[in-house]
Amino acid sequence: MTVDYKLLNGQMESLAQAEGWYVSLFANASALLWETLPDINWAGFYTVDGPDLVLGPFHGKVACIRIPREKGVCGAALREDRTMLVPDVHAFPGHIACDSASRSEIVIPLRDGRGRVAAVLDIDSPVLNRFSEQDRQGLEAFAHIIEKAMKGLAPMEKTIYLAGGCFWGCQKYFDLMDGVIETEVGYANGDAENPTYEQVKHGAGHAETVRVVYDPARLPLRELLERYFQVIDPTAVNHQGEDFGIQYRTGIYYADPADAPTVTAALNDLSRRYDKSLAVENQPLQAFYPAEEYHQKYLEKHPGGYCHIHFD
Ligand code: SME
Repeated sequence: MTVDYKLLNGQMESLAQAEGWYVSLFANASALLWETLPDINWAGFYTVDGPDLVLGPFHGKVACIRIPREKGVCGAALREDRTMLVPDVHAFPGHIACDSASRSEIVIPLRDGRGRVAAVLDIDSPVLNRFSEQDRQGLEAFAHIIEKAMKGLAPMEKTIYLAGGCFWGCQKYFDLMDGVIETEVGYANGDAENPTYEQVKHGAGHAETVRVVYDPARLPLRELLERYFQVIDPTAVNHQGEDFGIQYRTGIYYADPADAPTVTAALNDLSRRYDKSLAVENQPLQAFYPAEEYHQKYLEKHPGGYCHIHFD
């Protein structure tokens, strides 16, 4: 049975006009595919979460929550940034069988406004060789409608800049957190432009800071800040762990003014838990300069390296 992709994609265009955000968009898109496509047993989305994919809205049997980027058909679509049409899943090395009835599969990457893969659309069938070239074209057009709609929705990712002492340990701490998509260490809110580590060390005025990109659906800002509070001494002035100096001050620097009330509320709440006054800066981000490459993911490069945060 052939699918009327013109009709399907017209319906998707109408759904994409409605206000909402990506979770509702993905939920309705998977429901529409489920109602329309014959011979399928799963239709839904995985969204990019750091190096991996994490389960999003879908129709079908319960599925695995996390797919590493090096695994499965979904991981291949993410890595290679192209549609994977798999006529026989058993012949695909690394295929992940969430539903043992699946015989064939198509996975299409969805790109965000910056052209990076932000999610994949995954459709499984219990029929061998279910997806034709016509299906590929129709479903790629369907995915494209979703991609366009995603750009107008509340972002799937937000960014906040957090200073919590030596940025080596802080970066590892945030990298291990579910809902954190990407991190980068750098120097924030100081005087000089593009400072070097040496200049920052000698008091150029910047704070060692981690740029934290996160998914607010999975990790609301308030929760992220609570987790940050767990690894800092918020009353210490220009000092964390064994490190002393203005570059080791604590601070929350927001790029989106809409985050200011949340930051202030979180700090007010925190201050009630301490007798001393807090030393955590609460400021808009003035500037963030990425640190030198050898500082990025430092503790991955040097697993036994200095770290003021205890991970056990
Ligand atoms: N088969 C997929 C895993 C997801 S399930 O199909 C829902 C894969 O190999 O990536």
